[in-house]
Amino acid sequence: MDLLQKLEKRITVLQQYNAYRGELHHLELNGKVSNRMMFNEKEYIIWCLNDYLGLMDHPESIKAATEVTELYGPSYPHSVRLTIGHTAAHDKLEASLKSLMGKEDTMLVNLGYQGFFSIIDALTDRHDTIIYDQKCHACLIDGVRIHNGRKFAFKHNNVNHLETQIQRALKTHDPKQGIILVLVDGLYSMHGELAPLDEIAQLKEKYNFTFLVDDSHGFGVFGKNGKGSPEHFGVEDDVDIFLSTFTKSFGNLGGFVAAKKEVIDYLRFAVRSQIFSRTLPLPMVASVQKNLEIFLAEPERRERLWKNTNRFKDGLNNLGIDIGSSVSPIVPVKINGTHQEGLDVYFALRELGIFSYIVAYPVVEKGSCLIRMVCTYNHTEADIDQTLEAFKTLKSKYPNPLSIPTKISV
Ligand SMILES: Cc1ncc(COP(=O)(O)O)c(C=O)c1O
Repeated sequence: MDLLQKLEKRITVLQQYNAYRGELHHLELNGKVSNRMMFNEKEYIIWCLNDYLGLMDHPESIKAATEVTELYGPSYPHSVRLTIGHTAAHDKLEASLKSLMGKEDTMLVNLGYQGFFSIIDALTDRHDTIIYDQKCHACLIDGVRIHNGRKFAFKHNNVNHLETQIQRALKTHDPKQGIILVLVDGLYSMHGELAPLDEIAQLKEKYNFTFLVDDSHGFGVFGKNGKGSPEHFGVEDDVDIFLSTFTKSFGNLGGFVAAKKEVIDYLRFAVRSQIFSRTLPLPMVASVQKNLEIFLAEPERRERLWKNTNRFKDGLNNLGIDIGSSVSPIVPVKINGTHQEGLDVYFALRELGIFSYIVAYPVVEKGSCLIRMVCTYNHTEADIDQTLEAFKTLKSKYPNPLSIPTKISV
């Protein structure tokens, strides 16, 4: 078999998607994208940016990035962090994150995805056991995939099953040789539900494990001070390894890990994706630093995000549209039907000037399909009301896909 024969099956599947190139994927952007954007000469309200706090193109953030770009170019420093890829600005951002998170230390990573899976790789070897929520983000799952020790998945957000898996793991696990590492997302990115971090933290009193939370979507959104899902549940100290990207609330690139000093000291020399790949460029560092300052100075950004979220979700609930069990600005409009029916609703929504994206397998479970809508600080009441009006129109045109399935009792 040669490569093309091997790929033939997969290419056939991709061809279905290619029919939508430029319309559903690989859209050609050519202008500002915020709460609205122009696409093919028509204006749309945008519901697919994870720019929760509206900081992605804040003028102060652009200024901070531009100043250093003009001095040193767009990708300075031109090396890996450990050699000549480090500046005082990298240190300053780590210090700011450390003080915000109340952890002993933090380390930046150049991209969330490659940083996080590589952190899991650095923390474990064949003597260690990983137990992970089956719906963790791909970056954690890929960390599990390259792990050559024991691994167990637990059913999504099911703490009883997590406990069963810990007990199963303990039968073969040698605590003198290795650790048990439990992985979850703080806020799940497709259905918008939180992990039960408080209940998982309680399990730590019974079992000795290391607890890692990827809170890329919760950071900046949840908690009294916006420190994320662990703060929301009051379990910050129980989370041993806290991860977040800057690509959501902090509107930029890169991410960070917060943990005990000894852990971070070790990671600085052990995370292969950071040792063998270039540092986070200075313009990104400068812009995230500025965004962090704005986030701290303007808590009203979070207030408005939540006000928008509640207005939008209340409106969809009143229309009888199924948005699952989301407790966050991530609003999954569930399609009660086939992928094709989902596409019909999706393109009809587009016709009405509403822009988001449709999610199907493998991002969500096989056979299910949803239109993922994300509320942000930048949305106006007019944006929300116009979008609700569009859903009202669609609800009468597509009553079945936009209905809430009735549970069959047995
Ligand atoms: C939960 C979660 N973790 C990690 C990442 C990866 O972040 P990045 O975009 O910085 O690679 C994402 C991005 O989609 C995410 O949703």
